[in-house]
Amino acid sequence: MFSLVITIPLLFLCVVLLFTARSHEQRQRVIEDLSLPPNTKTLAFFHPYCNAGGGGERVLWTAIAYIQRTRPEVLPVVYTGDIDATKDSIVQKAQSRFSIALDPDRLHFVFLTRRVLVEDSTYPHFTLIGQSMGSVGLVLEALWNFVPHAYIDTMGYAFTLPILRILGIPAGAYVHYPTVSPPMISRVARPSKLVYYHAFMLLYSLALRCAQVLMVNSTWTRKHVAAVLAYPFSSSRRGTIKPRVVYPSCDTREMAKLPLDARAQVVVSIAQFRPEKDHAMQIRALHSLLQTHPKYEKVQLVLIGGCRNEQDQARVTALENLAVELGVKEHVTFVLNAPYPDVLAWLRRASVGLNTMLDEHFGINVVEFMAAGVIPIVHASGGPLEDIVVPFNGKNTGYHAKSPETFAAAIHEAFSLSPAEDREIRRRARTWAVQQFSEAEFEAGWEASGWAKLLR
Ligand SMILES: *[C@@H]1O[C@H](CO)[C@@H](O)[C@H](O)[C@H]1NC(C)=O
Repeated sequence: MFSLVITIPLLFLCVVLLFTARSHEQRQRVIEDLSLPPNTKTLAFFHPYCNAGGGGERVLWTAIAYIQRTRPEVLPVVYTGDIDATKDSIVQKAQSRFSIALDPDRLHFVFLTRRVLVEDSTYPHFTLIGQSMGSVGLVLEALWNFVPHAYIDTMGYAFTLPILRILGIPAGAYVHYPTVSPPMISRVARPSKLVYYHAFMLLYSLALRCAQVLMVNSTWTRKHVAAVLAYPFSSSRRGTIKPRVVYPSCDTREMAKLPLDARAQVVVSIAQFRPEKDHAMQIRALHSLLQTHPKYEKVQLVLIGGCRNEQDQARVTALENLAVELGVKEHVTFVLNAPYPDVLAWLRRASVGLNTMLDEHFGINVVEFMAAGVIPIVHASGGPLEDIVVPFNGKNTGYHAKSPETFAAAIHEAFSLSPAEDREIRRRARTWAVQQFSEAEFEAGWEASGWAKLLR
């Protein structure tokens, strides 16, 4: 027993010394290779799939471009498992995919060969624990190759954070989606799995508490992450970290160019034909509108959406049948898998845009409506209620509803606005959405998160 008490800390000390002994020389080599001043600080981003071109990568590159622009003394470093890519190809893709200009002379990549450690196919059973332990392995590979001055996980690998802290490196995280959370667990039915989830969540909570800076991508994620941090009971320590919402920027440039006036009696919806999007509610709302206000004989409901497979196609057919059954077939148009210019053309004509999903986490389509000058009528829940269709300067930027009847009433209200009010609400919604989900706003939030204190 006594020998254990001695050997474990000793072993631990050896590992820490081993890593830190290598670190200085490695860092100086990278800094010299890039011809940067010797006192350059390195900030590493753990993003093993940095070349995937999704929403998470937009956040990564926006943050890095911002740091390059504003902090010449900081060198961003990316840990990635994209070993088939090169620095040039990654920088090029950020440009072509997101129009984000990265400076390759002030950027360093550490390529990791063991990304298989975090792939879910590696762990057919106990995937959560497997991937989390795998991420510890992967971050050890990363640190073996490069020890930074500070570290930010931007892909949700919270279990890497304690490793960094053990090595004395300040660490933070940007969380897109919680790995698990108490509200999610309460929906798991099987008791045998419950023990596993609770055990996992305890570890997850302890790992997340190692973050000295914590950002999340929406109110929904903030609530879930806050619940994880408070699991199983809130830490009584003062100064427990509070996650801060920093919205990813949305590309609204094309939409914001559309003219606000000359809109037709067109109601659009943009959503994949998945059950949770509740397209049927939209058709029922249209039916209810025509029942109560037959004067809208010209109204068109245009359902734009991706239709990926047979199940989606079957849902479209069922929706067509519903329209026939309710006698509103002539008023409904389906636009499947439309190219972007066609979507823009509909957004240019539409007066109103619908989002009927219950508890949508965010709802980027709603941001797009608003940027395009389309008045949003959204389900009174989730991101559309809490993050997006919120008052701006004390005035509404759209409408909330919950049932076919209330959606219909909101459509009627929007159609009944005076020309001046109509223009005013479109302008207000556009101004708000473009500003709130802009790069500038993201950068302001990133700065306010206090990331810079990691480098002090
Ligand atoms: C946050 O990240 C999750 C997971 O990638 C995504 O589904 C969600 O849309 C994101 N929210 C925002 C505001 O981009």
